[in-house]
Amino acid sequence: MIKKKTIYVCKSCDYQTSQWLGKCPSCGAWNSFEEETYDDDKAAAADKKSVRRTLLARDFGESEPMLLSENVPDYLRSSTGMGEFDRVLGGGLVSGSVVLLSGEPGIGKSTLLLQICHSLSQTKKVLYVSGEESAAQIAMRAKRLGVRSESLWVLTETDASKVLEKADKLSPDVIVVDSIQTMYHSESATIPGSITQIRESSAMFINRAKTDGTAVLLVGHVNKEGGIAGPKILEHMVDTVLYFEGERRQNFRLIRAMKNRFGSTNEIGVFEMTDKGLREVENPSEMLLSDRPKNVPGNCAVCVMEGTRPLIAEIQALTSPTVFPSPRRMSTGIDYGRVSLIIAVIEKRLGLAFQAHDVYVNVIGGIKIDETASDAAMAMALISSVRELAVPDDLIAFGEIGLSGEVRTVSRVEQRVAEAARLGFTRIAIPRRCAERLDKIPDGVKIFPINTVFDLLPLMAK
Ligand SMILES: Nc1ncnc2c1ncn2[C@@H]1O[C@H](COP(=O)(O)OP(=O)(O)OP(=O)(O)O)[C@@H](O)[C@H]1O
Ligand SMILES: [Mg+2]
Repeated sequence: MIKKKTIYVCKSCDYQTSQWLGKCPSCGAWNSFEEETYDDDKAAAADKKSVRRTLLARDFGESEPMLLSENVPDYLRSSTGMGEFDRVLGGGLVSGSVVLLSGEPGIGKSTLLLQICHSLSQTKKVLYVSGEESAAQIAMRAKRLGVRSESLWVLTETDASKVLEKADKLSPDVIVVDSIQTMYHSESATIPGSITQIRESSAMFINRAKTDGTAVLLVGHVNKEGGIAGPKILEHMVDTVLYFEGERRQNFRLIRAMKNRFGSTNEIGVFEMTDKGLREVENPSEMLLSDRPKNVPGNCAVCVMEGTRPLIAEIQALTSPTVFPSPRRMSTGIDYGRVSLIIAVIEKRLGLAFQAHDVYVNVIGGIKIDETASDAAMAMALISSVRELAVPDDLIAFGEIGLSGEVRTVSRVEQRVAEAARLGFTRIAIPRRCAERLDKIPDGVKIFPINTVFDLLPLMAK
């Protein structure tokens, strides 16, 4: 009889123990241990970190030392037909790479991948494996999206070895697995979705990619905390980790790279969800500004850099008097701490009182700003709301605000100014130092240099 050995593994950091624990002693996560069972002959290998090592190690076959300067092949990249997706991948899908695309339920992962499969299948053989939906469901979606191809194959299967067996016969150039959490490895005793299963089936797909150059796209579910469900090690094993995010109730969707072995992680891809699937948004600024109210106090435009691309967004602030001793402060899309800091600077330096006001700050379009260059615009929106004075519609401000109320320089000023001018902003308030260094001022644009938060006041409409 085969003897089983049980160990408990932390889902967030892979710490292993022989007993179940409520709190992980290594990473401090609560309730994160899951049971894994091994056959006794595998138990020796299960001894703590050796499992990790065997799974991380790749089977490259026997190889000889090679001079780095010799035989350097270039990445073989193929366009996915969506410029926005290619951009996040670093310029297209690399053959033999493994990409993990994760996101909230219903955000549009399957939709996006089916659209990408469609374009890739114009020149390549593509296999779309689904463990979540029936072939009829996928066909219905394909019909809605207008996907029709002679070289796109669909397989509904959850046994990873069977998938690979069928892939051997078909020999596709691209395999999409929707989703990795539904796959299981029949030789492993645990249930599908458990960390052992996810780890083992991913390892099978990764090995496949590395041995014969198939590009593999894996869909990953996210857990309650927003991380990728399953073992942390999954993110180490794949080449690229992408997050698909956005407010489900709004149509705006963003793809960010969290890790990329073949490109920068600064770039984002912007999409809009429509009944015909995801549509690329090449000019996100135009879309974000389309419903902007005119002459209303409490909002200001800002230019933030998303990777190498400037994005114009709108920051709104609402201050309303309250009778409660501790007023509310709420922020969406921008760091709460940063909002408190800017409020404190305005109170102290400009003498404007917020103590008796609830303050709400919001960034339009479900985007998240994490750049201090947005400080000046946030301050403008706050001042505008508390003083009931609208910021002129054609004015945009950027600059980092320091604790003494000074406005500090930001990077890539020329690019931000050019984007603002392209979208019709004619008054651009920028830190004085940046204004001095600015070589080219677009036609019809007036630059307002700002030194401190005091300089923001005359910019408000009379
Ligand atoms: N007929 C339709 N018209 C417009 N949008 C639709 C239509 N059908 C579906 N959608 C959009 O597609 C989304 C579902 O997309 P999709 O199934 O690709 O998401 P998913 O991320 O794969 O979800 P899951 O995690 O459940 O697999 C819906 O939330 C909705 O926004
Ligand atoms: Mg899906």
